[in-house]
Amino acid sequence: MIPILPSSAHSADRPVRLPVPHALRKALPSSDRAEAALAKALDGVGIPTLNVSRLAEALAGSTGHAILAAPSCWTDAQLRWAYVVILHHLGDLNGRYGKLFDVADRGLDHTTSNAPVSKTKAATGMHTDSSDAGYNPDLVALLCLQPGASGGRSLLADAQALFDRLRQAHPELVSVARNAWPRDVVTPGLTSCSKAIEDNAIPVFSEDAHGLIFRYMRYWTERAMAKLDRDVPEELTRLFDFIDADMDEHAVRFQLRRGDMLVANNRTMVHGREAFENAAGFAPRCLVRAWVDGFLDSRSQALSLRA
Ligand SMILES: [Fe+2]
Repeated sequence: MIPILPSSAHSADRPVRLPVPHALRKALPSSDRAEAALAKALDGVGIPTLNVSRLAEALAGSTGHAILAAPSCWTDAQLRWAYVVILHHLGDLNGRYGKLFDVADRGLDHTTSNAPVSKTKAATGMHTDSSDAGYNPDLVALLCLQPGASGGRSLLADAQALFDRLRQAHPELVSVARNAWPRDVVTPGLTSCSKAIEDNAIPVFSEDAHGLIFRYMRYWTERAMAKLDRDVPEELTRLFDFIDADMDEHAVRFQLRRGDMLVANNRTMVHGREAFENAAGFAPRCLVRAWVDGFLDSRSQALSLRA
């Protein structure tokens, strides 16, 4: 059985915060050596041994997320190095968009192009990461380098609790949630023809040997239907409306600060971001996203060895 944090560690109205491991502080490279140490860490070289068991337990258990707050006085390279080191202990960094992907406003508009919302300053809507039916990262992580001038609060919601409320309030929509619905194909390198969109079908709720899998991207699903020249079924709109209203009521909202590393279980937690603004006199907002694969498999192995 996966141990979980005591309930006192988790309040429904604020995120779980954990201290940065002491061994990480001790191993921090000096600012002039941090870039080189970061390059090595991205190749898995020079990674110090850390105890991340509290973080791993939070991610695998019912809390589904945690924030580690590194000192804001560390340089960007030191923060990136610390981030990579911590994530290395949780699994493998996915390189599909680069192992570290800077989420910043590039002046793009996702409503008129295939640009990801991560390259805009718009609200993202609540979602789980990856629009590709064939790929779902175990963990999604965000390191805050600069929060921007205003707005941009982060949001987190618990999909298991949402599913329980859906079953209670609208049992007739459970089968709709378990049906695979097409999602627009926006991953660079993948063909975005009608057949590819039709094939890129994903259920909102499903299960595998590790438990619940929640995959939600309302915007990309509705856009897929539009590209396929199909109406969005009325029951699917009802499901989406229920999910959005439930998350609006129950989501935790918080501001990330420089040095904060948010790590969330991408199968059981939904995340989002409110719209933000950059302004003269403030460093432009920049968060560094990473996707981690293999977290659940590593947990399974650790648990079976422990048993
Ligand atoms: Fe995201």
